[in-house]
Amino acid sequence: MMKPFSLLLILGAGFFIDVLAAPSPCPLVGPAFPWPTPSLENKCLDTARRNLSALLFKAANGSTNSIAVQAFDTSNTSPLFQWTYTADNLDTKLGVSHVDQDSVFRVGSVSKLWAMTLFLAEAGIDTFSDPVAKYIPEIQSAVSGDAIDSVQWANVTIGDLASHLAGVGRDYGILDLAANPSMTQMGFPVLQPNEIPPCGNPVPCNRTQFFSGLLQRHPTFPVSATPVYSNAAFQILGYVLEAIKNDTFENLFQSQIVRPLNLSHTFYTAPSPSLGVIPQGQGANFWNMDLGDENPAGGIYSSANDMAALGRAILNSTLIDPLTTRRWMKPHSHTSSLAYAVGAPWEITSFSLPRLIDLYTKSGDIGSYSSVLALSPDHGVGFTILVAGTGGHVVAAMVADLVAQTMLPALEYIAKDQARVRFAGTYSAPSRVVNSSISIITDDGPGLRVTNWTSNSTDMFQSLATLRGANDTSQITIRLYPTGLETPGKISFRALIPPDLGLAPIGPFTGSCITWVTVDSYIYGSVGLDEFVFTLDDHLRATSVSPRVLRIDLQRQNSSSG
Ligand SMILES: *[C@@H]1O[C@H](CO)[C@@H](O)[C@H](O)[C@H]1NC(C)=O
Ligand SMILES: *[C@@H]1O[C@H](CO)[C@@H](O)[C@H](O)[C@H]1NC(C)=O
Ligand SMILES: *[C@@H]1O[C@H](CO)[C@@H](O)[C@H](O)[C@H]1NC(C)=O
Ligand SMILES: *[C@@H]1O[C@H](CO)[C@@H](O)[C@H](O)[C@H]1NC(C)=O
Ligand SMILES: *[C@@H]1O[C@H](CO)[C@@H](O)[C@H](O)[C@H]1NC(C)=O
Ligand SMILES: *[C@@H]1O[C@H](CO)[C@@H](O)[C@H](O)[C@H]1NC(C)=O
Ligand SMILES: *[C@@H]1O[C@H](CO)[C@@H](O)[C@H](O)[C@H]1NC(C)=O
Ligand SMILES: *[C@@H]1O[C@H](CO)[C@@H](O)[C@H](O)[C@H]1NC(C)=O
Ligand SMILES: *[C@@H]1O[C@H](CO)[C@@H](O)[C@H](O)[C@H]1NC(C)=O
Ligand SMILES: *[C@@H]1O[C@H](CO)[C@@H](O)[C@H](O)[C@H]1NC(C)=O
Ligand SMILES: *[C@@H]1O[C@H](CO)[C@@H](O)[C@H](O)[C@H]1NC(C)=O
Ligand SMILES: *[C@@H]1O[C@H](CO)[C@@H](O)[C@H](O)[C@H]1NC(C)=O
Repeated sequence: MMKPFSLLLILGAGFFIDVLAAPSPCPLVGPAFPWPTPSLENKCLDTARRNLSALLFKAANGSTNSIAVQAFDTSNTSPLFQWTYTADNLDTKLGVSHVDQDSVFRVGSVSKLWAMTLFLAEAGIDTFSDPVAKYIPEIQSAVSGDAIDSVQWANVTIGDLASHLAGVGRDYGILDLAANPSMTQMGFPVLQPNEIPPCGNPVPCNRTQFFSGLLQRHPTFPVSATPVYSNAAFQILGYVLEAIKNDTFENLFQSQIVRPLNLSHTFYTAPSPSLGVIPQGQGANFWNMDLGDENPAGGIYSSANDMAALGRAILNSTLIDPLTTRRWMKPHSHTSSLAYAVGAPWEITSFSLPRLIDLYTKSGDIGSYSSVLALSPDHGVGFTILVAGTGGHVVAAMVADLVAQTMLPALEYIAKDQARVRFAGTYSAPSRVVNSSISIITDDGPGLRVTNWTSNSTDMFQSLATLRGANDTSQITIRLYPTGLETPGKISFRALIPPDLGLAPIGPFTGSCITWVTVDSYIYGSVGLDEFVFTLDDHLRATSVSPRVLRIDLQRQNSSSG
């Protein structure tokens, strides 16, 4: 019996996310609170974990897909959540008979994320603006023909290749239907021998064959027109890194990723099948399928534990410095879905908490294997899904939906709860000095909310209303968001005080979320009215806050609500 997955029954129409309307309040892109540091005993996390296990168990019961799931964060080295399912169609003579967090799967195109991590760690992100021809003699000497027939290689940069914007073909040789003997019966013409790739089916193309074939392929689009997925682009990036480092990609992968992260179940080429999750039937063939020099695009093998280690390393800037990480984790182009953008080679999907957050993800499919690695830079958390079986991409995607919809709201809640303990309360100046105070709470919205703000006996909400030309304070809301600017013992926030346009959204301009334009718009003696800096004690709890425009430190008062 073939039972892919019964999740479609669970995922109802209620899960549909409307991203067209700008959410209110519309914060900046980025965290609403400092990263949570969830204790594994946390009650809310525990409930989310139980809920998720139950949902997964229900969905996977009887499935012909083996699955490993792990959610992780940067403050714990143990998983936030782990779950596995062993289908009864495994080839247990060849591979594992029970799936666990160390079981090895093929990760398919998630290899591109491993490859880009290595590339950035070793070559840096400044190379993104270099023409690829600088590093690849075959491309340097290529003579581009007319715009329809030839990629204009002189225009292609490393960054274009990394973000699927080069307009180069998806593959050369591999998966070419010329290898399928029934094509002519399906109405396709007989090919001349020189039209049939000499490699890729199944023997991988070597470098010479790859370039002589790829350079003949027609472009898909002009350079930097629209994102179009390309595996060949990542084979070329592999060659670029080899040229920059004068070493093989495989050696670099081993010495700069596998060894520093202490990964024991991640491989550049097929390891012993005894480590692997190998479905009966085609499983062994797909396990052994050799992609040769295309490995950086899709050849890597890994486990849930090791994928989590990669995710933590990216979030924590372990191998790549924080600035490069921030530059890397950005969209490079939109897709036709407002909730889905493309980076290098991130697949960025927006998710409603209901605050819109961006998940930086990569998914992969190769034969019987499908996988996902997803990171939430707003929370310092991520998760990975590895699947082997009959269901393919859609099973991994459905499991990823369940994990995201269960774990992320819980982590947002924990982040808010921890922020309440760290920052909420009333802060004031000694009354004999000046009558100044500020009250901060967490409510059902994002960020810390300022409820009362008095400076020298004056209501600052009224002052803001006056500055804005508003009649009263009812339209003034002040929410504080962490900026990520921190020094030992201090953490900075910015206030967002959304303007009231005075009308309901009508179209794309009135409906836009323009809070990002308003930051730092009132400055007094060169200090922004929206600048707030908290001083922290050894437990990272605030002891005072400075609304910096007031040039004053307000001491946190003891409060029973703690
Ligand atoms: C867990 O599931 C219950 C029942 O469906 C739901 O009320 C609750 O909000 C869920 N909690 C979490 C943290 O997922
Ligand atoms: C799992 O599937 C079996 C067979 O369809 C069914 O009897 C059992 O109740 C299911 N278990 C759960 C927890 O859904
Ligand atoms: C991430 O980095 C922080 C700060 O350097 C460190 O305290 C933490 O242990 C790291 N987390 C992991 C999982 O390595
Ligand atoms: C794009 O490539 C063409 C040749 O194919 C070249 O003439 C042109 O200068 C290039 N443009 C840029 C901006 O590199
Ligand atoms: C690539 O393969 C072809 C055909 O087998 C062979 O003639 C050529 O020498 C190989 N090139 C390299 C660089 O190995
Ligand atoms: C390293 O450089 C030498 C000398 O140019 C070259 O022969 C060799 O192929 C290079 N190795 C790699 C892996 O690029
Ligand atoms: C490396 O991983 C192994 C298990 O896979 C563990 O026993 C060992 O302590 C780890 N070493 C370091 C330095 O993390
Ligand atoms: C201001 O603070 C007082 C007491 O601290 C509280 O009762 C009142 O609700 C606050 N005002 C607002 C608008 O939150
Ligand atoms: C408070 O305001 C009064 C005027 O209303 C002013 O004289 C005084 O200097 C102010 N105090 C401080 C500390 O700014
Ligand atoms: C401080 O200022 C507020 C707002 O003007 C006022 O309501 C309050 O009575 C003042 N408190 C003192 C002690 O002056
Ligand atoms: C402010 O008050 C004046 C006079 O009452 C009124 O004409 C105006 O429409 C009000 N403006 C706003 C933005 O409410
Ligand atoms: C807050 O509590 C500490 C000890 O619990 C005490 O020393 C301090 O004076 C209190 N501060 C205020 C402003 O009540």
